[in-house]
Amino acid sequence: MTAAALLSAALSQHTPAPLEHTPRDGQLQKELYVAVGSWVVVTCDGVADGSLVEWRLNGSVLGHGSPLSVGNASAGGHGTYTCHDAQGGLIRTITLHTGYPPSPPVVHCWSPSYPTKAICSWTVQPEPILPTNYIATYSGGMKSGVWPCLRLHGLPQQCVLEGLDIYPAIPYLLNVTAHNPLGSASTVLPIDLEAIVKPDPPINVRVGAVERRSLLVQWDPPPSWFDPINFALKYKVHYFWNQPDPGQSVTLGPYEAEEAKLRGLVPGRTYHIQVLAQDLLDHGQNSDWSQPVSVTVPYN
Ligand SMILES: *[C@@H]1O[C@H](CO)[C@@H](O)[C@H](O)[C@H]1NC(C)=O
Ligand SMILES: *[C@@H]1O[C@H](CO)[C@@H](O)[C@H](O)[C@H]1NC(C)=O
Ligand SMILES: *[C@@H]1O[C@H](CO)[C@@H](O)[C@H](O)[C@H]1NC(C)=O
Repeated sequence: MTAAALLSAALSQHTPAPLEHTPRDGQLQKELYVAVGSWVVVTCDGVADGSLVEWRLNGSVLGHGSPLSVGNASAGGHGTYTCHDAQGGLIRTITLHTGYPPSPPVVHCWSPSYPTKAICSWTVQPEPILPTNYIATYSGGMKSGVWPCLRLHGLPQQCVLEGLDIYPAIPYLLNVTAHNPLGSASTVLPIDLEAIVKPDPPINVRVGAVERRSLLVQWDPPPSWFDPINFALKYKVHYFWNQPDPGQSVTLGPYEAEEAKLRGLVPGRTYHIQVLAQDLLDHGQNSDWSQPVSVTVPYN
């Protein structure tokens, strides 16, 4: 066996060492990132092993001796460790951060504007606790290459693919990579626009009394749907009184018009009315229901 092979065999038997980051402030400060549950050895660099330094965690005395072992680092074991000489003078500051390497993101995509746009959002479980960055890219369509999935301002775990082709020559693939000081993990997801259509709910739902015992409901289509192409939508209307359970609710439609008349209502009763949108050709999913609008049917 060569020396290099021996060394790599020896290294592979060790659990990965905690990552140390270049100190910002000379050699006196160090950031240490460790996985929850791992065994951590904190060293007071610059003093010989076995020296009787004093260790403090967040200022409270922990014990004496170097190095210091922190067994089974828990999420609550993070904090600032300092080692001190016999006079109490500060020698080193080590900030310990505990968390998890990211697991592959769980990604969910939908198209509120078929077929040119998709929105994707993701979660990482368990919560890594440590600061975690995300890189989201996609490939496919009419051109080869990798493009950034545009991040939505203020939403770190969501991005938008725009200007997509309805019949892509190369299927679209989204790659979401999570990265933190303990590791990185990617999820690569095919995007089939037809399967993930989901309009936003209709807007401006308004209700007026037109005839005795009936109400006229009108709404506007979700503006996001028409950006930039205009496929037709159809709608359903749902109304309930007291509770939204089946005995006290009615669903009507689909309607291709942007209005519907509710008949046979009870004067004096308050109805809560919602509208949803769906692709006229039944691609993908319905929108969510709009927020209920409440109206009491007049007596006359
Ligand atoms: C480590 O700590 C966790 C809880 O913080 C506990 O459930 C687990 O049994 C501990 N493991 C060891 C080996 O002490
Ligand atoms: C040390 O201080 C940090 C920051 O205030 C806190 O989050 C952490 O829980 C403390 N650690 C311990 C073990 O008290
Ligand atoms: C996903 O993106 C990451 C970060 O850009 C990259 O390292 C990785 O190779 C990509 N994976 C695939 C399958 O393209």
